[in-house]
Amino acid sequence: MTIIEQAELERQQRYIGQIGQCMEAYRSETGFSRRYWIHTYGCQLNENDGEKLAGLLGEMGYLEAAGLREADLIILNTCSVREHADDRLFGNLGRLKNLRQEKPDLVIAVCGCMMKQPEHVARISRSFSFVDLVFGPQDIYRLPELLYHRLSDEKKQYLVGDEDTLVEGLPIHRARRFRALCSIMYGCNNFCTYCIVPYTRGRERSRQPGDILRELRELALSGYREVMLLGQNVNSYGQDFEETGGDIRDFSDLLEAAARENFYRIRFMTSHPKDISEKLLKVMAANPVIEPHLHLPLQSGSNRVLGQMNRQYTREQYLATVTRARQLIPNLAFSTDIIVGFPGETEEDFADTLDIMRQVRFASAFTFLYSKRTGTPAAEMPNPVDPAVMHERFDRLTALQDAHSLAYNRQSLGQTVEILVEGVSAKQDQVFSGRTGQNQLVNFTVADPALLPAEARSPDGRIDGSRLEGGLARVRVTDAKTFSLFGVLEAYRP
Ligand code: 5AD
Ligand code: SF4
Repeated sequence: MTIIEQAELERQQRYIGQIGQCMEAYRSETGFSRRYWIHTYGCQLNENDGEKLAGLLGEMGYLEAAGLREADLIILNTCSVREHADDRLFGNLGRLKNLRQEKPDLVIAVCGCMMKQPEHVARISRSFSFVDLVFGPQDIYRLPELLYHRLSDEKKQYLVGDEDTLVEGLPIHRARRFRALCSIMYGCNNFCTYCIVPYTRGRERSRQPGDILRELRELALSGYREVMLLGQNVNSYGQDFEETGGDIRDFSDLLEAAARENFYRIRFMTSHPKDISEKLLKVMAANPVIEPHLHLPLQSGSNRVLGQMNRQYTREQYLATVTRARQLIPNLAFSTDIIVGFPGETEEDFADTLDIMRQVRFASAFTFLYSKRTGTPAAEMPNPVDPAVMHERFDRLTALQDAHSLAYNRQSLGQTVEILVEGVSAKQDQVFSGRTGQNQLVNFTVADPALLPAEARSPDGRIDGSRLEGGLARVRVTDAKTFSLFGVLEAYRP
């Protein structure tokens, strides 16, 4: 692991300064600012990386574009976890080709996990030669240098580092105003046999507790009400620390310290079932600020398949964890990830997955068709599941989960739930939304505008939803659907 030193960041800072001067000159000459557009695929860790790219660009004087066509710099921040994401990248690149022809000055960059796979870089070089910058997930901090060379020498810059880097102190432009993402560690050591992440994101490395807690303190002071602690496997946080003698040695310690900061709610993901400890569950139980929600990827309910996947737990151990967690935290909601059609999965194996779902009754689940990832051990495994069988199983799995999700949500009917207001519904006018501590999406209307502060109400009785964001709302649930609750505002606190 390479810790990126201050001297390297200062070197990058000089490039930031130089680009900043050019941007300033352009602005005084034309009256316009250069603008960027970042499109992030995949998980929240990648989203957090996108926020760092935006932070660096902000320091260089770039502004965010309102849309792709308005941008002078487009960055595609890729994900390689499933094939579908690869396809989307190449589809989008095809469309960018025309845009580049219309706008020769446009700079196009591709970064993220896919760039760690040489075959993708080779394909970009071969078939999408208009791409100017290529860099990997460990090279984000070098964006200023790469961009500087592209802008000054007009030369393409491809740089995908092999080292697992840990960088502190990058500027960040957060996408949301009240919910912040905080990556506490990077990489993964688990090598689940289907998964590409350990190859693209490298080995596990944990940020120092002091750096994380400083970030959390700043977030709380600047008005963030909710934070989500992120890692591929947060439960192994700190396992890479040499004995430091500090009092934060593992994820439970970190979570407990985070709970002392002034947040309304703390979320975290992802947890590996093999690493859930009694200590963690007790910290969750003792600190109501930590959401009563555990995202615990099951992947399969069959011990045989779990073994083939190298998941390092059995269905019995998984169920025991769920039972114990429910004893300690009675209102705990479970969500999960499940893969259908892992090589060699039989009808019996699949029945085991359905069975464990019936036992746990997950509040929600992300369900995936197995996707072969070149370079992973599973890609070499015999007996691939026939695609028609895979799809048929997938449909049964989602039907069962949908029934469970609906039943789970129906338990909230008639109750009052408390949510952090996150936004305005894109589909319905005067409908607002947020999430419960159990991570249920809640849409709500306001029957009595007098419940809201005056600045959120306009004279014609309409409500300015943007003024509600970040507020805490109590909502009486009147309808429950598979993926959301619906209700009416009962109380609101800014
Ligand atoms: N095929 C299908 N799903 C996958 N996931 C990871 N790799 C693959 C793959 N090759 C899923 C797992 C993981 C989630 C983030 O993505 O369920 O938990
Ligand atoms: Fe992939 Fe397994 Fe690591 Fe999750 S724990 S990122 S599924 S290897």
